[in-house]
Amino acid sequence: MGKHAQTYLVGAVSALGGFLFGYDTGVMSSIQEIDQWKGYFNNPGPVGVGVIVSLLTAGCFVGSLCAGWLADKFSRRRTIIFASLVVSLGAAIQSGSQNRAMLIVGRFITGLGVGCLSMTVPIFQSEISPAQIRGRLVSLQQWAITWGLLVAFWIDYGCSFIKGQAAWRLPLGIQIVPALILFVAMFFMPYSPRWLVDNDRVDEAHKVLARLRANGDFDNLEVVEELEEIKEAVRIERETAVRSYLELFRFPIRRRVILGVVVQGLQQLTGINAILYFSPTIFKQSGLSKNGASLLAQGINGVVNMLATIPAILWVDRWGRRKTLIYGSLGCGTTYLIKAIATAATQHKTYDSEGTLNLNLSKGSSYVSIVMMYLFVISFAMSWGPVAWLYPSEIFPMHIRSKANSITTASNWLFNFVVGLVSPILIKKITWGLDLIFAVVMFVTILIIYVFLPETKNRNLEDMDIIFTGSIWAHKDKKRIEEFDNTNRYAYDMSEAIG
Ligand code: GLC
Repeated sequence: MGKHAQTYLVGAVSALGGFLFGYDTGVMSSIQEIDQWKGYFNNPGPVGVGVIVSLLTAGCFVGSLCAGWLADKFSRRRTIIFASLVVSLGAAIQSGSQNRAMLIVGRFITGLGVGCLSMTVPIFQSEISPAQIRGRLVSLQQWAITWGLLVAFWIDYGCSFIKGQAAWRLPLGIQIVPALILFVAMFFMPYSPRWLVDNDRVDEAHKVLARLRANGDFDNLEVVEELEEIKEAVRIERETAVRSYLELFRFPIRRRVILGVVVQGLQQLTGINAILYFSPTIFKQSGLSKNGASLLAQGINGVVNMLATIPAILWVDRWGRRKTLIYGSLGCGTTYLIKAIATAATQHKTYDSEGTLNLNLSKGSSYVSIVMMYLFVISFAMSWGPVAWLYPSEIFPMHIRSKANSITTASNWLFNFVVGLVSPILIKKITWGLDLIFAVVMFVTILIIYVFLPETKNRNLEDMDIIFTGSIWAHKDKKRIEEFDNTNRYAYDMSEAIG
């Protein structure tokens, strides 16, 4: 830790972007349940609530697509600064809303900022990091997301006891504080050294690397070597690459775009947000019938999610990306399967006067369901949560990294949107059938990861071209990678490998 203290500090500050992400996606889940809010907006009903909740995600989708261009043109650092201002603006509008339209516009604007941050923070962290701690550093953003969700759940819960409109205005407005802290703090953070080299600012990059890796010692061997590797990679990229979005659809980048899009889409298809956004409803169905009890159970869910992310932060660089995702999918799939069986065995649907579904599970089934939900969140937090953000941030070459990441991140938001839209309907209509669908997706996912996903742990960002230009059957490609490992990397003909 000591040696990389500066890198951790910069990574942790930028992770505040993740906090805003988690906070804003989580904050509406309980607000929509409270009477002060419903009364003020004339009982929006399921469709109205759906629009208000999902407009944030739509904003995130657009924001992540714009971020690719911004992060290249103005730097990762300035994009984060700019996005934190956008989040503050949107939050101020949300919190001061006088009518539904204003709330919706506010959520969309906040979404633009959050989407921008969700793509820029991981690549910034990835680019300031040495290979050995990159997984850990990028996982900090996921940890911050879980903190954001957690704080939002508990602030919602606390504020639900306030009688007036502050019960919802306060939770929506409070996020301006972390957004402004991020805004100010980023002025004191360095530019990404890789972005600097790519913009011909090599001396500045040298300074940043010296600050991050060696307490300002310019002549430190590691610093000089890393700078040389980055320069070399940028030089080769300039010789071989075309700098346009079209490149994303051509060899050798296309395969990585597909993998990044799939990994991010699959993260959402774990159904994590069906659980997190709607857990008060699910908990209610599963037997925690009092409103307070289900909100509390969700608060606990937030804590479980945050705590279970810690092992991933500590060990993802040791476990590797493939293993983590495979075991994570196994855990998620199994918990869904058990929950589906337990529910199917004893469910007996009834509806109360407001049309709320009750499954009337036996005590045993409802206990098993709730425990499985927590175990699912643990499996997700230790694997898919951090790794789906990490993987795309590390597999692309410098010149295309932010463009490619804006596509992979947009895939995450698109699937987030779809799951958010469809799952409340399915939770009600097919109950355990939805668990079964998610279980099947998770078991198929194990195969996809095993066959297609190359391992990237402990690799320099500059080595990724070698890892990804071999056979698409990742599980069979070990020999070629070993050959590369046994060769001096400068002797291995990089331009040949890139083709
Ligand atoms: C990941 C997902 C996000 C989810 C969160 C839960 O960051 O991308 O959608 O809400 O994990 O911890």
